Amino acid sequence: MLNVTIDGVRVEAHEGETILSAARRAGADIPTLCWMKDINEIGSCRVCVVEVEGQDGLAAACNAPVFDGMSVRTKSPRIVEARRFSVKTILSKHRGECTTCKRSGTCALQSLASSLNVGELEREPDYRREAWDGSFPLQRDASKCISCLRCVAECSKVQHCSVWDFSGSAGQRSVGVKESLSIDVAKCALCGQCITHCPTGALTERDDIDKVLAALADPDVLTVVQVAPAIRTA
Ligand code: FES
Repeated sequence: MLNVTIDGVRVEAHEGETILSAARRAGADIPTLCWMKDINEIGSCRVCVVEVEGQDGLAAACNAPVFDGMSVRTKSPRIVEARRFSVKTILSKHRGECTTCKRSGTCALQSLASSLNVGELEREPDYRREAWDGSFPLQRDASKCISCLRCVAECSKVQHCSVWDFSGSAGQRSVGVKESLSIDVAKCALCGQCITHCPTGALTERDDIDKVLAALADPDVLTVVQVAPAIRTA
């Protein structure tokens, strides 16, 4: 076992364990946004940054492994400022307009911005605009996507559908339907799990989802109807 100190609290950790995992055992409260345990530990949003004694830069707690004798601070003015910077960077590419967003009140980004006291940005955000098939039960708004890849990970690693994919590297990533297919031919199972795991309003269901699913209620599309409740709980 490895000995690690988090905010002065000593905990044992195992080889390969992340700072985030050990820190939670020590009672530390580190925010996360892109992270999903075991399936999306890409360290992209950097809202989980912490200070590691002896290191100049900040570490992403969600994917930096612990080492024996490591001492970590999860709270300091520098950390708060870095997290605020990360959230502002994300917001600079996100169409806010929270008051009209379906996810207002349940949006992880909105909640994080509020807890870090990040208000209006100095510049208008520069977000993506993409057309979407409004007749499909699942709706995607690219202007709200923060490229956290949670939908990609959930769809490919858990649901084994791989409807979503991304292109570009860190900072320039964009998410879309795999191979730029139209969503209606991408073999989406309508499980709703990408909606559930999307931290913003980028993925939602149609407002009239019940009507849409009722119209689909014939034996040929029984699978769609059976999995529909997963969408409604998103
Ligand atoms: Fe750690 Fe996103 S939660 S980088």
